[in-house]
Amino acid sequence: MNILGIETSCDETAAAIVENGLHVRSSVIASSQHDFERMGGVVPEQAARKQVECILPVIEEALVKAGITKEEIDAIAVTKGPGLIGSLLVGTTTARTLASIWKKPLIGVHHTLGHLSSVWLDTDTPPLFPAITLSVSGGHTDLWFREDHEIGVLLGSTQDDAAGEAFDKGASLLGLPYPGGPSISKAAQKGNADAYTFPLPLKEKDTLNFSFSGLKTALRYCIEEHPNATKEDLAASFEKAISNHLLHRLQKAVKQYPDAKEIHIVGGVSANTMLRNKAADIDPDLTVRFPALKYCTDNAAMIASAGFFMQQASQDAYNQFETRSSEQLTE
Ligand code: KG4
Ligand code: ZN
Repeated sequence: MNILGIETSCDETAAAIVENGLHVRSSVIASSQHDFERMGGVVPEQAARKQVECILPVIEEALVKAGITKEEIDAIAVTKGPGLIGSLLVGTTTARTLASIWKKPLIGVHHTLGHLSSVWLDTDTPPLFPAITLSVSGGHTDLWFREDHEIGVLLGSTQDDAAGEAFDKGASLLGLPYPGGPSISKAAQKGNADAYTFPLPLKEKDTLNFSFSGLKTALRYCIEEHPNATKEDLAASFEKAISNHLLHRLQKAVKQYPDAKEIHIVGGVSANTMLRNKAADIDPDLTVRFPALKYCTDNAAMIASAGFFMQQASQDAYNQFETRSSEQLTE
């Protein structure tokens, strides 16, 4: 079964063809990220205008790269939210139109469910359940206990900023370009992660929630108190503080859910090298899985995969959906 996935929740215009939820036949992404590097974030109106121009060529390229015709597509899966509303509307309007003209089933996918599904794209050994999943991106930071491909139980979420947002805001404080995760990571490679110590958020709290706003404030004070500190040392110490907080919560979840067979770490921040290296030490008995680097940040293959498993679970329950800028996955 071939699903055409479409994803336009932020600054990217992405389309992909995924076979049976696992095998990526093509994945095309046009990003306007470079336009926003110096602005410290995405300008929604500008992103949506670019997406209107890109969406049809990107879909066409995905079909050509996969070597299939529209007749061979079995369904269209599209990100219905959350995200920038103008951007989401470009994707969902295109998907609704194509589904109507081509007479294909349409599946509205929650963006976060897409990230949760990215872990089994192009893998030789499909993931085992139950799994504890840490989903960390620019818009959300969640911990899940999952028994199968469906959503699962939400164990904890961020109380304020998302982990990716903390990287982005931290980069802005350090004068590093957007998106902050890759630029902090790059600077951190030449820095000393032990140069400055930041507090471990919610250390004594009996919760699986996260909090990053205190770390951002701590970084601001640290910059003020140490005017001669190098960006590299500050970046490395800040990156370590974010990773430690994520892994501290994950370790707590592992203790509370001993039935888990695997740990999955997904979302844009899962591309982070320090997080990837440190996560390997969480529990020697548990396999820790990450998506391939190209599927950590936003892409349409993960939306096609999620759409496939949603359709397997319920043939037509997802045809009716609203495009929404904010929506909990558990709604
Ligand atoms: O999942 P994603 O592409 O979009 C959202 O759904 O938000 O995640 C984007 C976020 C950005 O905040 C970006 O700074 C962060 O992921 N990110 C990283 C890395 N690559 C992207 N954070 C840390 N290290 C990275 N290598
Ligand atoms: Zn995302």
